Amino acid sequence: MSRAGNPLRLVDAAPGARILGWGSSQPDQVVTNDDLAQRVDTNDQWIRERVGIVSRRIADKNTLLVDMAADAGSKAVADAGLGPADVDTVVVATCTMPNPIPNAAAQVAHKIGISAPGAFDLNAACAGFCYGIGTGADLIRSGSARHVLVIGAEKLSDWMDWDDRSTCIIFADGAGAAVLGPAPSAEEVGVGPLVWGSAGDMAEAIQIVQPSNGIHQEGQTVFRWATTQIAPIALRAVELAGLTPADIDVFVPHQANLRIVEAVAKRLRKAGAREDMRVATDIVHSGNTSSASIPLAIDHMRAAGQISRGDVLLLVGFGAGLSYAGQVVVCP
Ligand code: UT7
Repeated sequence: MSRAGNPLRLVDAAPGARILGWGSSQPDQVVTNDDLAQRVDTNDQWIRERVGIVSRRIADKNTLLVDMAADAGSKAVADAGLGPADVDTVVVATCTMPNPIPNAAAQVAHKIGISAPGAFDLNAACAGFCYGIGTGADLIRSGSARHVLVIGAEKLSDWMDWDDRSTCIIFADGAGAAVLGPAPSAEEVGVGPLVWGSAGDMAEAIQIVQPSNGIHQEGQTVFRWATTQIAPIALRAVELAGLTPADIDVFVPHQANLRIVEAVAKRLRKAGAREDMRVATDIVHSGNTSSASIPLAIDHMRAAGQISRGDVLLLVGFGAGLSYAGQVVVCP
């Protein structure tokens, strides 16, 4: 049957998306460097100097990834001034679910009380939250969704080789979330264009290995890649948003290693970012929580009064894949 030349109808689109609220969740248990030194051959000074971590949060066996995700997600929905019934799409960025099915998003939506949303998981490892924000914003912009809950949630402690001192001191557990909604006008768009990509030729640099079933990473290889490749991606996101580096109030990179955070921030300043640009250093007390690290850092900085309404935030995530993504967002 012919459509007689009639184009398919599209639903009304929004001028763009904006962030409406944030939320986060961490397990109660604080694990210090000295605690880990009782288990593997390491020490507080090495971890502070080489990675920047002082302590991290590790979930107990009864706390599931979906529990942390639901806690962060429901806080973000409330922070947005919405109720669960207002949310139509849930995206969970994660790489540490215990099993591939069922996915996290449908379970998390159910726990929050969101009825029958579009719900899917997204695995871009430590870049996952930025992939989720980009995808969610484009769903809103196209009219496919109205309110999208994007959660980065990880229980990395389930996928750790607790005898490997080069990784067990880095990774940690937690969840962070944002609610996206349509911008009422083009002037009020609060999520800039997404810059994303991957380097699959380097996939073996971060992977789960056997027989430990734990994360193994070629630390130096990833370190070199991150300190050379990530600043240009972040700067491209600034450029695509129609801004200059000097417009950035807060830089929130994935919290992989404090030395990487500082090296990338230095390159941004060389490119024109302000000296008083605030830089997220949440890794110090949260560790590396992969897809959760960016929204956790933002929510903690907000609570500490270091981020306020209207601030222009530059986000950039990077990690296993190797995958990366970044964008500029405006804080509600
Ligand atoms: O989130 C996903 C993205 N991931 C990243 O961006 C991670 C990037 N890489 C890194 O952050 C760093 O490479 C690490 C933190 C993983 C490692 O730091 P490094 O400064 O690159 O250390 P290294 O691997 O070169 O090891 C230096 C030394 C070695 O000893 P030798 O061979 O010099 O005798 C290691 O065995 O430090 C030793 N070492 C440790 N010593 C005390 C490794 N881990 C530890 C430890 N405590 N926990």
